[in-house]
Amino acid sequence: MTVAPDAPILFFDSGVGGLSILAPARAALPTARIVYAADSAGFPYGTKSEGEIAARVPALLGRLVERYRPRLAVIACNTASTIALQHVRAALDIPVVGTVPAIKPAALLSKSRVFGVLGTDATVRQPYVDRLAAEHGADCTVLRHGSAALVQLAEAKLRGETLDPAIARDALAGLIDQPGGDRMDMVVLACTHFPLVEQELAAAAPHAIGFVHGGEGIARRILHLTQGQLWPDAPAPGAAVFTRVDEKVEALHPALATYGLDRIETL
Ligand code: DGL
Repeated sequence: MTVAPDAPILFFDSGVGGLSILAPARAALPTARIVYAADSAGFPYGTKSEGEIAARVPALLGRLVERYRPRLAVIACNTASTIALQHVRAALDIPVVGTVPAIKPAALLSKSRVFGVLGTDATVRQPYVDRLAAEHGADCTVLRHGSAALVQLAEAKLRGETLDPAIARDALAGLIDQPGGDRMDMVVLACTHFPLVEQELAAAAPHAIGFVHGGEGIARRILHLTQGQLWPDAPAPGAAVFTRVDEKVEALHPALATYGLDRIETL
């Protein structure tokens, strides 16, 4: 089937985290029409149960696809991807790209053979993470820590609020204070919110630590899956759609505009 040039790419997250995935994709496909969806009514995902996420995410994606008819959907959320990717794929008839922790590059880059996985509580306990660690980091010590406060920090940063440096410090300490943590030289940002506060994390690190995440890899995957498709001639205005619009969402407006998302809609 031919894909219309203005058919959008849909990005989905619980909040603003997916913008860290959207940014490299937009750089690769600057005229693509973007619909960025955030489940503000269900935010945060990281403290929810597997059952809640597995029930909520495919249903929402179904409604979004019906409304916006995207050419491709990106689950720009590690929590939703590690729990619900298969359910979403089964429910949709378009390609679905997931975001999973960038454990492979961290294992390749770590010289000390100790690296951390910093995600949400829900992500770091997933068997999916066990499998990635066993497959790519079998000779490494893989430390894990879940931080809900860091997710809130990223949201606050995009609302333009003053940030408490203790939050990034505490999140890193959750890894460093574990046995072997003093030798940790890489951290996987296994929640899409966390690249948005990478600067704060780097500033809080007591020694040199490299950070990796999946944004660039996902942009390459999108390019591959859309090869040969047509795109608008000029950059198309993007929309941010929220499951609930309140004053916190309104405060995101200036930040969203810097990602080309000029319109706010409610699902
Ligand atoms: N951005 C999400 C992730 O990648 C989830 C954050 C949350 O809602 O807890 O895991």
